[in-house]
Amino acid sequence: MESKKLLLVIILSMLLVFEKGASTTVTYDHKALVIDGKRRILQSGSIHYPRTTPEIWPEIIRKAKEGGLDVIESYVFWNYHEPVKGEYYFEGRFDLVRFVKTVQEAGLYVHLRIGPYACAEWNYGGFPMWLHFIPGIKFRTTNELFKESVDQSLKKPVLFSMQNEMKLFLAKIVDLMKDENLFATQGGPIILAQVVSFIFVMMDVFVVENEYGNVEWAYGVSGELYVKWAAETAVNLNTTVPWVMCAQEDAPDSVINTCNGFYCDRFTPNSLSKPKMWTENYVGWFLAFGYPVPFRPVEDLAFAVARFFETGGTFQNYYMYFGGTNFGRTAGGPLVATSYDYDAPIDEYGFISQPKWGHLRDLHKAIKHCEEYLVNADPIHLSLGLKLEAHVYYKSSNDCAAFLANYGNSSDANVTFNGKSYFLHAWSVSILPDCKNVIFNTAKVVSQKTTGSTAFTHNTVTIENSLESDPWGWYQEKVGIANNHSFASPRLLEQINTTKDTSDFLWYTTSINVEENIKKRKAKELQLMVGSLGHAALVFVNKKPVADLEPSLGFGYGNHDDASFVLSKKIHLKQGNNTVDILSMMVGLQNYGPWFDISGAGVFSVIFSDLKNSKNFSSTEWIYQVGLEGEYLGLDKVSLANSSLWIQGSSVPVHQSLIWYKTSFSPPEGRGPISLNLSSMGKGQAWVNGQHIGRYWSSYRSPSTGCSDNCDYRGAYDSWKCLKKCGQPAQVLYHVPRSWLKPEKNLLVLHEELGGDPSKISFSTRSGQTICAHVSELDPPPVDTWKTDKDQTSQEPSLQLNCEQGWTITAVNFASFGTPTGDCGAFIEGSCHWDVLSIVHQGCVGKSGCSIPITMAKLGDPCPGVQKSLAVEAFCSV
Ligand SMILES: *[C@@H]1O[C@H](CO)[C@@H](O)[C@H](O)[C@H]1NC(C)=O
Ligand SMILES: *[C@@H]1O[C@H](CO)[C@@H](O)[C@H](O)[C@H]1NC(C)=O
Ligand SMILES: *[C@@H]1O[C@H](CO)[C@@H](O)[C@H](O)[C@H]1NC(C)=O
Ligand SMILES: *[C@@H]1O[C@H](CO)[C@@H](O)[C@H](O)[C@H]1NC(C)=O
Ligand SMILES: *[C@@H]1O[C@H](CO)[C@@H](O)[C@H](O)[C@H]1NC(C)=O
Ligand SMILES: *[C@@H]1O[C@H](CO)[C@@H](O)[C@H](O)[C@H]1NC(C)=O
Ligand SMILES: *[C@@H]1O[C@H](CO)[C@@H](O)[C@H](O)[C@H]1NC(C)=O
Ligand SMILES: *[C@@H]1O[C@H](CO)[C@@H](O)[C@H](O)[C@H]1NC(C)=O
Ligand SMILES: *[C@@H]1O[C@H](CO)[C@@H](O)[C@H](O)[C@H]1NC(C)=O
Repeated sequence: MESKKLLLVIILSMLLVFEKGASTTVTYDHKALVIDGKRRILQSGSIHYPRTTPEIWPEIIRKAKEGGLDVIESYVFWNYHEPVKGEYYFEGRFDLVRFVKTVQEAGLYVHLRIGPYACAEWNYGGFPMWLHFIPGIKFRTTNELFKESVDQSLKKPVLFSMQNEMKLFLAKIVDLMKDENLFATQGGPIILAQVVSFIFVMMDVFVVENEYGNVEWAYGVSGELYVKWAAETAVNLNTTVPWVMCAQEDAPDSVINTCNGFYCDRFTPNSLSKPKMWTENYVGWFLAFGYPVPFRPVEDLAFAVARFFETGGTFQNYYMYFGGTNFGRTAGGPLVATSYDYDAPIDEYGFISQPKWGHLRDLHKAIKHCEEYLVNADPIHLSLGLKLEAHVYYKSSNDCAAFLANYGNSSDANVTFNGKSYFLHAWSVSILPDCKNVIFNTAKVVSQKTTGSTAFTHNTVTIENSLESDPWGWYQEKVGIANNHSFASPRLLEQINTTKDTSDFLWYTTSINVEENIKKRKAKELQLMVGSLGHAALVFVNKKPVADLEPSLGFGYGNHDDASFVLSKKIHLKQGNNTVDILSMMVGLQNYGPWFDISGAGVFSVIFSDLKNSKNFSSTEWIYQVGLEGEYLGLDKVSLANSSLWIQGSSVPVHQSLIWYKTSFSPPEGRGPISLNLSSMGKGQAWVNGQHIGRYWSSYRSPSTGCSDNCDYRGAYDSWKCLKKCGQPAQVLYHVPRSWLKPEKNLLVLHEELGGDPSKISFSTRSGQTICAHVSELDPPPVDTWKTDKDQTSQEPSLQLNCEQGWTITAVNFASFGTPTGDCGAFIEGSCHWDVLSIVHQGCVGKSGCSIPITMAKLGDPCPGVQKSLAVEAFCSV
């Protein structure tokens, strides 16, 4: 398994606050965080502010609150806040103060992970590129980060400045928050602040992957000192609150060590005086170009969460609750995709993703009903059989809440608890807030579903057919050196050191002279081998893409786990001077793993060979140009939209490499987000009205095997377990926020590297949504209706439907009471069927939500003695 982003060291400083203006105290004891003197059970979720637009923040945070969250967590992204040393940026999507205030206005707490290292599939893990070029900085030699070290050549001590830079940035962010009174002690929402050190991420890799065993020791020693340095630095920021550190067993006494992972029920903090906290619970996994789409079944996610609270946990954070989009060049790498959907409860576009969101909301409510029991005492453990157990939390001797678990991965079971029999699905937990009635089972999803979470099926606008759109203009990029920014070097240069990440592109150009006499009409045939550290490269000979002898382009590329590749191609050379141009491309700077900061990219070896000899061009003179001609011209800019650089004509060149396209278009009507379908394109980047919407790579298909349509949620999850879209591009739909669009005449610019057909590009939006639910008469009543003082036997299950986006239910497409089967979008009547369309129609149409009790009194009884269920499919729209 590839090294995961299990973050290692996390230091949380906790401040307190409650309502705006009133200061709040936050402390902790062995059970829980204590807010204003009260122990709390807290559900938290990660939402990274730059991964959507400020216009969308309130909507997403509202949905998070309705989903039962108490806390919103975000990293702070150093490289975008300080792009140039000492020059800060906090505008637009990077307006951190506005984000924190938006959470505050919703009445939720903030957990701010200041970094400075973020990881997060973010470019370079959030480190500014300029750090890499401070003389003497070595990310990897950690001892020197906090010590004076002797520079052997100068024979004198050098103070390495990495930790100074980190300290400066931490202080900058803490001051910014303090100035706006955003810490809890000041009446703000921030209850937790956290410092994450990349060094500990590396140590984690070493622990997880034995191949780095010998390096682990080296980091282990320096890491220990680093923990102390980081803790002192944080404490010196004078937040007057406790600290938390993740997965750091030797966390100093005042610091709480926390857990990251897919499951954390077995985790215990390193001291009896610290609470059990889980800082990264992966709701799915990130997407990389060339890979299938990962997902995590909600039954397993709910099981993991329930097990954590069952076994004494009190704080849990979903990574991610909303993933969003890696706009521009913010994606980490190599080859992290532009969508950061993460299979999160709120999808990339800000829509609720069902049944994930709804099932977790029900889980949070069920746990909330147990809060007073959970914080009161440690649980009593009872074994109920093989892989069957109960944890019981007592408030007094006859007042308790219980969790019943079947953690076996294959056999369902009946258990006896408290004199009653309970059915437990394999890999499930039942929650009993009164030790009697089950109000929630993790494997039983009764919440509403939607068909296809990114079903942008309505209001599609194909640019070509859109009356308002202009014909395409294009600009053919020059191959090789285009301007006076070039320079020469007698060897092959490493790409990141050369471009300093100012562009994804670096041209490597040389010439090869063929002296032998080649007969007319014949060309000399050679084998060209280009070795690259990554991430992709396109080869041109005599300014033509290398494709003549073989059908595919002279294009080589790696993947997320190994970006290096060797491109081997037969080429034709003419007599005399031949030019060779190699365009080396980056797709996101590495953000994680050992030595990620110096992993390197670009061409390292070029060899030409024929039957007789081979010639090594790695040490001949190469001419370089950082970036593309079109980037220097600024073709993505709105100001050049009408420039004569663009060729306008009736026959747009298609399937052409290194070409820029532009058009203007009117978006589909409505207020919803827009999706741009780039399935007809190859690889490149796209801009709308000058806003960079990200990199695309539609031609890179994932392997055709390894996917499972119906992934079994039972058994331990990992990021390879549940995959979809095998044999397809990782992503063909790209998010264009509505706030970046005007009603008409929007500029779309694409830079296509390999070749595609822009005339097939389309935009779509969602103007409605199909929603479904299927509830059995044996299902528990809705969690909301739970009242401890009520007799639960009088409660009946009910089917609930809700629209979002202010839509209402406009149609009921299917409603059967009896034994219906099938799934949302494809329900089928069973042998026992009662048409309840009119009842559901009457109860639901015209409303934003409705609830139909599953009772025979209300619905009738089509087949007495048979266990019945109600299945409904409805449609929401304006
Ligand atoms: C830390 O904060 C406290 C209370 O706000 C203040 O009294 C103290 O002077 C501060 N210490 C430093 C070193 O800033
Ligand atoms: C559990 O009990 C029910 C009712 O007695 C029975 O139908 C079912 O087969 C039992 N399931 C298992 C797994 O023992
Ligand atoms: C490069 O060319 C541009 C225009 O073509 C010119 O303005 C600039 O001065 C040149 N720079 C150098 C270093 O020659
Ligand atoms: C070959 O062409 C390149 C680019 O046009 C030029 O820089 C180089 O001097 C030429 N080499 C020879 C041997 O003519
Ligand atoms: C980049 O350059 C620095 C010196 O400036 C060197 O230490 C480092 O090894 C280089 N990185 C790569 C990947 O070549
Ligand atoms: C080509 O030359 C480079 C640099 O001199 C060297 O590192 C590499 O090993 C050589 N490759 C082969 C196949 O000889
Ligand atoms: C380009 O021309 C169109 C009309 O043809 C105009 O509406 C638009 O404002 C112009 N754009 C710029 C950037 O000048
Ligand atoms: C189920 O559990 C068994 C025994 O613990 C284990 O060997 C097996 O790999 C598990 N299966 C899955 C799918 O997790
Ligand atoms: C994207 O557009 C293509 C046509 O170019 C179409 O076949 C495909 O179904 C569309 N994909 C989605 C997800 O809408």
